[in-house]
Amino acid sequence: MSTAEILDRPQAAAGARPKFVPRRIVIEPVTPVIGAEISGIDLTRPLDAETVDEIRAAIRDWRVVFFRDQQLSNDQLKAFGRHLGPLTPAHPISEGLDDHPEIWERAADEYRERRRSDETRAVGRRPPRDYKGWHIDITFVANPNRYSILYGTEIPAFGGDTLFANLVAAYEGLSPAIRTLADGLKAVHQTSAYDGGGGERRLRKDGRKPGPFASLHPLVRVHPETGERVLFFNAGTVSHFEGLKEREGAFLIDLLYTEITRPEYQARFRWRPNSLVVWDNAAVSHAGPIDYAHFDLPRVVRRITVAGDLPQGVDGFRSQPLEGELFNVLG
Ligand SMILES: [Fe+2]
Repeated sequence: MSTAEILDRPQAAAGARPKFVPRRIVIEPVTPVIGAEISGIDLTRPLDAETVDEIRAAIRDWRVVFFRDQQLSNDQLKAFGRHLGPLTPAHPISEGLDDHPEIWERAADEYRERRRSDETRAVGRRPPRDYKGWHIDITFVANPNRYSILYGTEIPAFGGDTLFANLVAAYEGLSPAIRTLADGLKAVHQTSAYDGGGGERRLRKDGRKPGPFASLHPLVRVHPETGERVLFFNAGTVSHFEGLKEREGAFLIDLLYTEITRPEYQARFRWRPNSLVVWDNAAVSHAGPIDYAHFDLPRVVRRITVAGDLPQGVDGFRSQPLEGELFNVLG
């Protein structure tokens, strides 16, 4: 059966959620649960409203989408991002590029060092376990970005893949009793030494304080577009749960971590130069390259993020800042 035929039979493609049949772009799923490659489009050209709607719907349905062979300047990267909403600064803690404050450039060298020191890290606050890089972007602020957009500029021939996990599928895979428990919980997310916390903090170039940050999020958020329930668990930032004893929280963190990292909820993306990846940060956890420490080749990616709102829980609770400001928006 061809991909087109499968997409015409949405029940067969991915659960009961209907899929749309695109007219402007080509969508090829990479797993039944998460991830699709989008082709038939040149992102350097102006996009009409219908094409943008189709891209947005593809992200909604597949959680993360992959574009290949897109030669984008920094301005073109930002112009594409703005089709999905206003952009934030590069990061609440780290600086963006001097002439593009929205763009966060990351080189492998820095992460390599960080991974090598993982075992001996002792300064600042950190999550209770080493969770191998699985995270949702910047949930230490109360209004984490809605979309993350990552563009590969310098990519090694092998190594440096990125993993993505569908947090709606992870929620739906829990037993009803555990879902009910999770529905009623709120988690404290905070910056750690891993996020660049700890040590001396200089103000960002825009005059804002780069943390420390902490926020209170519902453990289960209602997806802002689809109304689905999302297991909004960030292995990198959750320190504890409101109202739970520390030992109870530690077991729950282990259980949730085991669930969100189950292989059947994942897609693994192999980068090439000029690949562009867009994911729904309201429904996806991801793990940056888990093999940084094992390859010595250059790897450079650029990230922009599209602003998000305050996540909402099943009972209507809206996420709250506990420490530090909300993430600002540049437009
Ligand atoms: Fe990330």
